Amino acid sequence: MAEASSQPTILVTGGAGYIGSHAVLALEAAGYQVVILDNLEYGHRDLVEQVLQARLIVGDTTDWALLDQLFQTHNVAAVMHFAAYIAVGESVSEPAKYYRNNVYGTLNLLEAMLAAGVKRLVFSSTCAIYGPPKTVPIPEDHPQNPISPYATSKLMVEKMLIDFQSAYGLQSVCFRYFNAAGADPQGRLGEDHSPETHLIPLVLFAALGRRESVSIFGTDYDTRDGTCIRDYIHVADLADAHVKGVEYLLNGGETTFFNLGNGSGFTVKEVIETARQVTGQPITAIPQARRPGDPPSLVGSSDRARQVLGWDPQYPQLEDIVAHAWQWHQFRHRPQSPSDT
Ligand SMILES: NC(=O)c1ccc[n+]([C@@H]2O[C@H](COP(=O)([O-])OP(=O)(O)OC[C@H]3O[C@@H](n4cnc5c(N)ncnc54)[C@H](O)[C@@H]3O)[C@@H](O)[C@H]2O)c1
Repeated sequence: MAEASSQPTILVTGGAGYIGSHAVLALEAAGYQVVILDNLEYGHRDLVEQVLQARLIVGDTTDWALLDQLFQTHNVAAVMHFAAYIAVGESVSEPAKYYRNNVYGTLNLLEAMLAAGVKRLVFSSTCAIYGPPKTVPIPEDHPQNPISPYATSKLMVEKMLIDFQSAYGLQSVCFRYFNAAGADPQGRLGEDHSPETHLIPLVLFAALGRRESVSIFGTDYDTRDGTCIRDYIHVADLADAHVKGVEYLLNGGETTFFNLGNGSGFTVKEVIETARQVTGQPITAIPQARRPGDPPSLVGSSDRARQVLGWDPQYPQLEDIVAHAWQWHQFRHRPQSPSDT
């Protein structure tokens, strides 16, 4: 077994994925030492190796022996837990897969943390735990009514974390993200999901010629242009919130919950029009029927994160979010890119 390092370390599960890798970048910029645990099912080894300083441990949160050894080897002060399956539709057809990975994997991680005496966790939750909104913007005390196994798996972890605080003194910050979007403003990292289901990359794939068109699901909603309104939060601002969240815990903060969103929503048509302006490409959009379960408007209130953590998002403009994503996708999908081979 390797010797324990003396410098406190942040363990980032899922740190080879989209949001986790940006959080590692932000942690490293803030001077933290980072260890990533990622099974690379959806993560990208090339980005970790080329962009980040962190040590990558390839493994799974469900592997007790690996976690036990990891905590004995590294002097972990706190954990950021991004590792999860994220596809809402798949969670409906394969719920067992989601409960095993997202709930059991987290339980295993929490027990390994407790065995090692590590009692601080930042957790990636989701605005989907609220279900169809009764008030917009959605506050943290909005009723919880998840409508997919994915969202239920996240709410189950939130509830576990409340019990783990009471029983074991494990303190946590749950961040309920709205739609993560954009890319590192310097173009080093970005979104590379496969399959991709998020609107902004799909629109940019149309601009790149990687797909012929984008669908607009529903054009007759009671919104300013008839299309759904969603809250897009820049991934660099999410990453910054995570650094502030871990510092809140390292300074003695107790278990709590924060929305992380932009506060102003954008319609599907506004996203497509902004992408046309940013890329200079025509981007064909095809109106389709509404999708069942899509609420007209999903916008969060992040006032609490601003007040308690001093979080101050730097990139609330849709133009910046789309421009940074466009810079990234042009780089990532350039001819002979590793992701295209
Ligand atoms: N992308 C969004 O808009 C959004 C919104 C709300 C919440 N979230 C949450 O944020 C987190 C990160 O999302 P993302 O978009 O970066 O997803 P992602 O798929 O890019 O990243 C998840 C990473 O976790 C890894 N992973 C999955 N299960 C694992 C396991 N059992 N052990 C080890 N590694 C594992 C994957 O290989 C991947 O690298 C997830 O928990 C997700 O539920 C994301």
